[in-house]
Amino acid sequence: MKILVCGGAGYIGSHTCVALGQLGHEVVVFDNLSNSTRVAIDRMAELVGRPVAFIQGDIRERRDLARAFAGGVDCVIHFAALKSVGESCSRPLTYFDNNISGTITLLQAMEAAQVSRMVFSSSATVYGNSEQVPVTESAPLQATNPYGRTKLIMEELIRDYSASQPGFSGVLLRYFNPVGAHPSGRIGESPTGTPANLMPYVTQVAIKRREQLQVFGGDYPTRDGTGVRDYVHVVDLAEAHASAVRWAMTQQGCIALNLGTGCGYSVLELIRTFERTTGARVPYRIVERRPGDVAELWADVSMAREVLGWQARHGLERMCEDAWRWQLNNPDGYQVA
Ligand code: NAD
Ligand code: WQD
Repeated sequence: MKILVCGGAGYIGSHTCVALGQLGHEVVVFDNLSNSTRVAIDRMAELVGRPVAFIQGDIRERRDLARAFAGGVDCVIHFAALKSVGESCSRPLTYFDNNISGTITLLQAMEAAQVSRMVFSSSATVYGNSEQVPVTESAPLQATNPYGRTKLIMEELIRDYSASQPGFSGVLLRYFNPVGAHPSGRIGESPTGTPANLMPYVTQVAIKRREQLQVFGGDYPTRDGTGVRDYVHVVDLAEAHASAVRWAMTQQGCIALNLGTGCGYSVLELIRTFERTTGARVPYRIVERRPGDVAELWADVSMAREVLGWQARHGLERMCEDAWRWQLNNPDGYQVA
């Protein structure tokens, strides 16, 4: 199959392209490199053992997309979005334009090219401040920040479009907390500036690039007072995308699926597991809660298992080991060869 992977040079996209390439699919990466680099594409090719086609372009640009669809495409995976919650609060229009306008233009390009299968990167952020765990796909949806609103609207755009097109298939994949890296240590998450997410912050503290981790909140109603999340290995996510593409190729309609492990771990549990599995130390200090955070959120993952036959294989230890190998081999992410 020929799969157009929009945003394929990024963190989750690069792992997915490797998984698809290793299954023998033809992958075309389409990315404007606004949050990624060509180095990732070279390393993907190295892991797959053959060149990976790349088109530098923007999903908001019809002409760029026309080039991408020119050679025929069976399915689109849509990772291309801006994803920083904090930045979305200070620059909402940038997020609306990139994520929402980009998705509309991409759907238009798909229609023009008669491509009717899409796998979309959604997020557990669409559940907002859900207090009910584990969260099922039928839980109420809510946006608590502009980034989350774009994900919610993008889901709705795809759902409405799908309903208007009898032959269309859309798979909305709601990722919980993607972490870890490819076991080779060649591709991984390469945040620019201060990491906003827990795992990259932990690995940067462990390698002594940052002094101390701030644990946001020690007084949540959880087993040790710190926030609980559903961390999921990025390689498991990559495999879920391959399963979702298979679903889209054979089924019609639009479905939303949670992707997580179904287990919640607290911040302190993650730190301890990281220290135990890697032998590295993670000095930390408990500080005020971070505004907007919920106490605990983990997924009910039964639907993905039933519909895709997928379930996460890697536990928290492997997530920590692989994240650490990536950090050790690439202390500055992709910035250093
Ligand atoms: P990422 O930033 O590493 O990857 C996104 C890629 O899309 C980047 O390579 C970027 O250059 C590209 N891109 C952005 N806007 C584009 C545009 N207009 N045209 C073309 N390319 C564009 O992010 P990621 O962590 O790999 O996330 C992938 C997707 O998954 C995103 O849609 C994100 O919202 C979603 N998601 C991520 C997480 C997470 O914690 N990483 C959790 C839930 C959902
Ligand atoms: C995890 C836990 C923090 C950093 C975010 C987005 C969500 C989705 C996934 C895209 C929480 C705590 C964190 C730190 C800490 N992304 N923490 N110190 O907030 O669950 O989800 O990423 O769609 O939309 O909101 O992930 O990794 O930021 O936090 O104590 O320096 O770690 O309070 O309990 P979060 P996270």
